[in-house]
Amino acid sequence: MPGTVIVGAQWGDEGKGKVVDLLAERADMVVRFQGGNNAGHTIVRGHEKWKFHLIPSGILYPGKTCAIGNGVVIDPRVLTDEIDGLRARGVDVSGLKVSANAHLIMPYHLMLDDAGEARLGKLQIGTTKRGIGPCYADKAARLGIRVQDMLDEKILKKKIAAALEPKRQTLRPFMKDPRLDLQAMTDEYLTFGHRLEQFIADTATLAHRALDDDRFVVFEGAQATMLDIDHGTYPFVTSSNPVAGAACVGAGVGPRDIQEVWGVAKAYCTRVGAGPFPTELDDALGEEIRERGGEYGTTTGRPRRTGWMDLVALRYAARINSMSGLVITKLDVYSGFDSIKVATRYRGAEEATFETFPYHQSVLHHATGEYEELPGWQEDITEARSESDLPQNARDYLRYIADFIGVPIVLVGVGPAREQVVWAEGAVEALPALIPAV
Ligand code: IMP
Repeated sequence: MPGTVIVGAQWGDEGKGKVVDLLAERADMVVRFQGGNNAGHTIVRGHEKWKFHLIPSGILYPGKTCAIGNGVVIDPRVLTDEIDGLRARGVDVSGLKVSANAHLIMPYHLMLDDAGEARLGKLQIGTTKRGIGPCYADKAARLGIRVQDMLDEKILKKKIAAALEPKRQTLRPFMKDPRLDLQAMTDEYLTFGHRLEQFIADTATLAHRALDDDRFVVFEGAQATMLDIDHGTYPFVTSSNPVAGAACVGAGVGPRDIQEVWGVAKAYCTRVGAGPFPTELDDALGEEIRERGGEYGTTTGRPRRTGWMDLVALRYAARINSMSGLVITKLDVYSGFDSIKVATRYRGAEEATFETFPYHQSVLHHATGEYEELPGWQEDITEARSESDLPQNARDYLRYIADFIGVPIVLVGVGPAREQVVWAEGAVEALPALIPAV
């Protein structure tokens, strides 16, 4: 049975974790395919809260295989902490599998991320400073250290020395930092290797077996389309490809192994870090959305920038990902608004207008949204569990979005808890294998 990919359709933090969590319950295997611990999501289960950066949240269901694919960059300190945290709360982590080919974030990647941002000054990207960019840069330069290298002292030490060599100049300010000592670093990563050895596996082959046996596999993306290094708002992007196509590369499967692609978007937009954001609300309304939506980063705690729904960017994301279903999250945040705006095109410099997402950075930097105003609703929708429970204006809002981008809405989030969702009518019938009747 071909798999389902879950991707972010905006600038990240759309609530992909909850969607993956809902599908993971039905899945046999969940594979994370890119990014690293720059991502973070919170899962609410009853009165319990769980925070994940690397391990797919499917691990909370006993018996699921949860793989960290070759396309992910792994900070072994963060991964071992996550494993310890789960074990301390009594979670069985035996389903965790870590690709032997995934690249490792090394202490010098964190230093280079810091130094790189400092050097850029006012032009900085606003990275999460988790060493993600420098790690992917080493991967591309063929200087990366991979998970399997932690199992062989000689190879590990040699590779670290080779990776450090061209960085001497940039790392000069950190030269006294004990974390840069070659032997100490080798020893530390060997220890991580010992601790992680039981989880290290050929995750691509595990995915092939699951797909070939007609089991249900979910491919979990991190970050989002507009942060994609090729298709996002470069250079204000992450260093990997969060789009659906990357699920193949980052998990080791082919395009025909993918059947469904669900994009996840909030009812409004947020962004952390710098870069273009055409529908940004840099005012009291934006502040209100931030407070109502609790828009502060899971990973860095930074306040998120907020804005209206951007349908120009969302339609672009729908096409880039060949989205088959759209999930709208946090619709409840809009309850109580008299009216809601959605951007249906951009206005650029000199009164130019754009119906499609501009490829040119100078155009994009000047673009602001042109809006349609839709009527809001006053009702509390957090108890809604079917479309008919939603006020007509909320349903019209969803219909407007789906019609504009040409993708059906499959699921709507109306609150933080996992049961606070509305499955769209028809979604269940369209995906009989995935979703038992609710
Ligand atoms: P990096 O991925 O740490 O290199 O950061 C590059 C850009 O991506 C910055 O603007 C970050 O704020 C943003 N970013 C990275 N990961 C996430 C995420 O999980 N959610 C939202 N933004 C992210």
